[in-house]
Amino acid sequence: LFARESTFVKGVVAMSGLPPADRIEVCFAGRSNVGKSTLINALTGTKALARASNTPGRTQEINYFNQGPDLYLVDLPGYGYANAPLPVVEKWQRLLKQYLSGRPTLRRAFVLIDARHGVKDVDDQILRLLDTSAVTFQCVLTKVDKVKAKDMENTLKQVRAALAKHPAAYPEIVLTSSEKGDGIETLRGIIAGLS
Ligand code: GTP
Ligand code: MG
Repeated sequence: LFARESTFVKGVVAMSGLPPADRIEVCFAGRSNVGKSTLINALTGTKALARASNTPGRTQEINYFNQGPDLYLVDLPGYGYANAPLPVVEKWQRLLKQYLSGRPTLRRAFVLIDARHGVKDVDDQILRLLDTSAVTFQCVLTKVDKVKAKDMENTLKQVRAALAKHPAAYPEIVLTSSEKGDGIETLRGIIAGLS
């Protein structure tokens, strides 16, 4: 599945701009700067397919990528970006809500959580939104290369406790480092298993 070529399809700012729902898709949600775009690059084995950056709020559109002919990878704009003006935040929340509950071909939403920080309030808001949206969702910890094994145990405890409040969440938590490659093959396998 992932041996096939990935290409950028389009950036979308409204539901009306979504590409035809003619194949399955998975999306990547998470706080600004958590590593969504970098993870898509790691999964597809590319360096700069999805634009990653140190500037939070870099990805402002819903970005669609082809992964071979049968799958879309969807990079969502980050939430919890403190400097974003309120109207922008509200517009984005509306779009996210519409997307998560209104995209019939969305097979799984991956919620990315920074392994150094665990589940924050803004993450919990997204988890609550997902509770009501009928899409299966799964937690992916990012940047595990930045966390010592001992601290990782604490993060995992905290994330498991947070997920326990969301029975619809898929129980397996995927630990990843886009930098070092940890968990990338596992995540590819999970995505391949959905098609
Ligand atoms: P927005 O588009 O603003 O929502 O951010 P994003 O979630 O797409 O984050 P992005 O992929 O742009 O990554 C943010 C920063 O984190 C970049 O400087 C990345 O290099 C860094 N980063 C991402 N993944 C990892 C990782 O696994 N390990 C380390 N050490 N750094 C990472
Ligand atoms: Mg991004």
